Amino acid sequence: MQPVRMVDLQGRHLQAADATEALILDVLRSGRWVGGPVVEEAERAATEVFGRRHAVGVASGTDALALALQVVGIGPGARVAVPALTFFATAGAVCAIGAVPVLVDVDERCLLDAAALGAIPRPDAVVPVHLFGNACHARLPGVPTVDDAAQAAGCPTPGGAVTATSTYPTKVWSGAGDGGFVLSDDAELARRARHLGNHGLAGEHVHTSASGHVGRNSRLDPVSAAMLLGQRTTLAARADRRRAIAARYDAGLPAGMVALERDPGNTAPVYCLLTPERDAVRERLARAGVESAVYYPRPLHAQQALEGRAEVHATPMADRLSGELLALPVHAGVDDRAVERVLGALQW
Ligand SMILES: Cc1ncc(COP(=O)(O)O)c(C=O)c1O
Repeated sequence: MQPVRMVDLQGRHLQAADATEALILDVLRSGRWVGGPVVEEAERAATEVFGRRHAVGVASGTDALALALQVVGIGPGARVAVPALTFFATAGAVCAIGAVPVLVDVDERCLLDAAALGAIPRPDAVVPVHLFGNACHARLPGVPTVDDAAQAAGCPTPGGAVTATSTYPTKVWSGAGDGGFVLSDDAELARRARHLGNHGLAGEHVHTSASGHVGRNSRLDPVSAAMLLGQRTTLAARADRRRAIAARYDAGLPAGMVALERDPGNTAPVYCLLTPERDAVRERLARAGVESAVYYPRPLHAQQALEGRAEVHATPMADRLSGELLALPVHAGVDDRAVERVLGALQW
């Protein structure tokens, strides 16, 4: 029997293969292999998907976070509050610009906890992560916010000064490789992000002079932009299918397992349940040919790379959730029979 996979990128591509491949071929034949109209069009699409006025295509979600932090004035030594349970890159981006990640506990939905955030010495910036597509509203008055919406394409999320997102292939709206966007309603912040991601150069061309800021090379490439435009055409239909799968899982979970609560507008980019028997349940699923995933098995304070580099606060909820969260397959390639197979394998 075919395994039920966590992701099916080939299947996703096939849903929009003709349109996507034609766009990619145009890019290859145009000889415009950096920037150009396809990237601009993908940036326009990103403003729609994320509901922000301006979008700047960059080379990864991690770069989007680092550039977003820089444009709100964060640099070496600044303290940046991040949730203690998230993908490593949320903290990695903070370290990459010489700032210090301040690890703050999460709430029962694995979102940065507003009360815990209010209880720590005031940070210089806050990064609420809209994990699993749920909107995180934790912020602090007068402190710049950079929203991490890497997992929230197509999900309503509040936008602070700047939003960063990833178009890594496993995201529901992805490119052909790494990529991301810096998004903002503020044209000046968006302009600064574009400038820093283009070597800090004053103009578009390589030999114009750097204008006072040392930037780097972080640009969305046109092949990925073409892929994003192709996938845009199936984004809504795929979201509908994921919602239907998630609703069926919610209704069919056995006693002892609970679905992680989702916002009404959440399109289930990731489906998570909570069970204290997580590792045993995973093994049972694997024996039945059902893939699953753990987002995330270790809170950030348990990541060796952050030892001595992060400011750590009490994280009892992050510690608990990292042992109980389990993600099930929820992409549009999971048909009704596969959904029932997953539910069947969850029963003791
Ligand atoms: C919550 C979160 N933040 C940041 C990132 C980093 O994005 P990228 O892998 O594109 O650098 C990811 C995904 O990979 C993510 O899930």
